[in-house]
Amino acid sequence: MTSLVPTPTSTAAADLLDDLRAVRRGAAALPGLEPDSYARDHAAFELLSDQRGLIADHLAGRMAEMGDGPVSVLSVGCGDGTLDVRLAEGLVRAVPGRPVRYVGIEPWSGSAALFTAELAALEARELTVEVHVASFADAPVDETFDVVVFVHSIYYVADLGVTLRSALDLVRPGGQLWVLNAPRAALNELVDVLAPPLEDHRQWFSADVEAAFVDADITLDAVVTLNALVDLASAGDEVLDFAVQARLTPELRGPVRAYLAEVSVPGADGEPRVPHPVDVFSTTRR
Ligand SMILES: C[S@@+](CC[C@H](N)C(=O)[O-])C[C@H]1O[C@@H](n2cnc3c(N)ncnc32)[C@H](O)[C@@H]1O
Repeated sequence: MTSLVPTPTSTAAADLLDDLRAVRRGAAALPGLEPDSYARDHAAFELLSDQRGLIADHLAGRMAEMGDGPVSVLSVGCGDGTLDVRLAEGLVRAVPGRPVRYVGIEPWSGSAALFTAELAALEARELTVEVHVASFADAPVDETFDVVVFVHSIYYVADLGVTLRSALDLVRPGGQLWVLNAPRAALNELVDVLAPPLEDHRQWFSADVEAAFVDADITLDAVVTLNALVDLASAGDEVLDFAVQARLTPELRGPVRAYLAEVSVPGADGEPRVPHPVDVFSTTRR
C-alpha cells in the first residue's frame, strides 16, 4: 500500500513505547471508554484536530462528482452526525430540489438521536433522514445506496471481510463504498499498547482493512491519505483517554504525554502536533 504514513519512531519514542509495553505486560486490560462519555470526548478531541475538516472536504469533493440526480447515503457508525450534517448540507445546497436520502446506523441511541436532530436542523424538504439504532451487523437495512461510508467505525466490527462484503451488497451497481480508517502511525502504536480488546479482536488498522479488501476479492481504487494533525499537548485527561481509546490510570498519563511530545511535529503555528493521518479506501460496485 502506497499510502501508509511511516511510524515516526525516534529512538526516544521507541524507548518510551517499550517502557509502556513493559508496564502493561501481564496487567489487566485498562477500562474502555464508556458509551455515555464517548461522543462528548470525541467532540472535544475533534476540536483539537484538523482531521474532520479534511475528511468533510475530501468526501464532499467525491460527492460533488456524483452528478445532479437523486442521491442516497448510508453512514455506518454515524455517531452524533457532526460530520454527516456537513455532507448532507453540501448535497442539498449543491443541487436545490434534488432528493437526498441520508440513513445512519449507530448502536448508541444518544448519538443516533443527535444525528437525527443535526440533520433535521437543516430543514431541507428534499432531505429524508432515517437512523437505525443498531450495530452494522444487526441493522435492518433493506435498500441500496449510491454511497455507503464508514468513517472511523470499521474498527469496531468483529469480522472485516464479512463487513466489507455486506456493505458492498448495500451499494447499488455503479455506487461507491468508502471506508476511512487510521493507519498504524505513532498515535495508534499507543492505542495498540493501551486500548482494551474490542469484542475479542484487536484494533483494526489500515493494513488490516486493505488486506480484508484483497481477501474479499474487492478491487480497491488508489488509497488516499489525509495527513491530519492533532494538538494533544492541549488535551485534558478525558481527551487524552479518547486519543488512546482507554481510561488511563494517573501513573500512565505522564509516560503517555512524554511519548506524544516525542512523536510530535511542528504545526503551521510552530506548536507541537501529533500526526493523525486517515486513509480513504474506496471501491465502485460493479
Ligand atoms: C469514532 S466514532 C465515528 C463517528 C462518526 N462517523 C464521525 O466520524 O464523527 C465511531 C462510531 O462507530 C459506532 N460503532 C461502534 N460499533 C459499531 C458497529 N458495530 N456498527 C456500527 N457502528 C458502530 C460508535 O458508536 C461511534 O459512534
